[in-house]
Amino acid sequence: MTRKRVLSGIQPTHDSFHLGNYLGAVKQWVELQQDHDAFYCVVDLHALTIETDPALLRKRTLASAAQLIALGVDPQKCTLFLQSHVPAHNQLAWIMECLAGFGEASRMTQFKDKSQKSGTDRTVVGLFTYPMLQAADILLYQPDLVPVGEDQRQHIELTRDLAGRFNSRYGQTFQMPEAYILKSGAKINDLQDPTSKMSKSAESMQGVIEIMDSPEANAKKIKSSMTDTGREVQFNEKQKPGISNLLTIHSSLSGSSIPEIEKEFEGKGYGDFKSAVAEVVVEYLRPIRARALELLEDEKSLLKILHEGADKARVVAEKTLADTYKNLGLAE
Ligand code: AMP
Ligand code: TRP
Repeated sequence: MTRKRVLSGIQPTHDSFHLGNYLGAVKQWVELQQDHDAFYCVVDLHALTIETDPALLRKRTLASAAQLIALGVDPQKCTLFLQSHVPAHNQLAWIMECLAGFGEASRMTQFKDKSQKSGTDRTVVGLFTYPMLQAADILLYQPDLVPVGEDQRQHIELTRDLAGRFNSRYGQTFQMPEAYILKSGAKINDLQDPTSKMSKSAESMQGVIEIMDSPEANAKKIKSSMTDTGREVQFNEKQKPGISNLLTIHSSLSGSSIPEIEKEFEGKGYGDFKSAVAEVVVEYLRPIRARALELLEDEKSLLKILHEGADKARVVAEKTLADTYKNLGLAE
């Protein structure tokens, strides 16, 4: 039986992924690569929609790849590559832009949110065409599934609309991809503001556990996380959002169930519990951070892994692009 294919991408917009990125996304990537034909892409071209210093973009791109590998994305089992290494992404993006309606693209909520925040004059055209590049990222690989967070559902719907439109106008060319929405159970909240999700764009990083932070810094963040009222360690998202979030984190990393952890801390206070969570997180992340730093020390080898991934990706992408050009009537 042929394995189902999956494709996903993540932006290299920060020095470090946070625990929410890992538990909400990358962990599923690692699981899916076991029995799927997986393509994972660091979408460095998408990151250009935010103006970044060149040295910083390069650093973050390599750091993202190193962290993915350290977290378990295995270049032997999947195809891991940088978007900019496969020019077919830009080539198909243009075709997608000529297929998408202006109104259709204007309705993308991510574009509306982001452009509203920065104002029309400071919004780049690339932010508007971002979803068509994403559609190209996806359709080039003919995936069955696209694992993404809930916030990406609309972009996947657009991708499906574009694939359907192309196929019906020009003949069957693209596999119809399905969104594989990552389980919301893995949603991790901010340690200081546990009713909103842990986010790279949080006002303060005090509530954000970063993979590349020192173990000491992360232990400190957990120990000084927001304290709920009461004193029992119990899962209750309404009344105890902070403790519930820490229970989710502990359980996701230690593998113990939430009731087991509650039982272990019966009669003990929040202080003991927070110290235990800090220990679990720190010990889980310690080898991951060390591995990522080791990969980053040998840039040549890391780039070699990514180039090998791009070589594999290009074979698939160029085939789809050639079929697309042919079906469109672009002369050979
Ligand atoms: P972003 O940082 O928003 O670009 O997200 C990258 C990936 O991580 C997406 O698939 C998100 O759904 C996932 N993600 C981001 N923040 C969280 C969070 N706090 N909890 C769970 N998943 C998250
Ligand atoms: N837009 C996605 C995000 O912000 C990242 C992305 C780009 C992506 N291309 C993709 C995700 C292709 C899945 C498939 O999270």
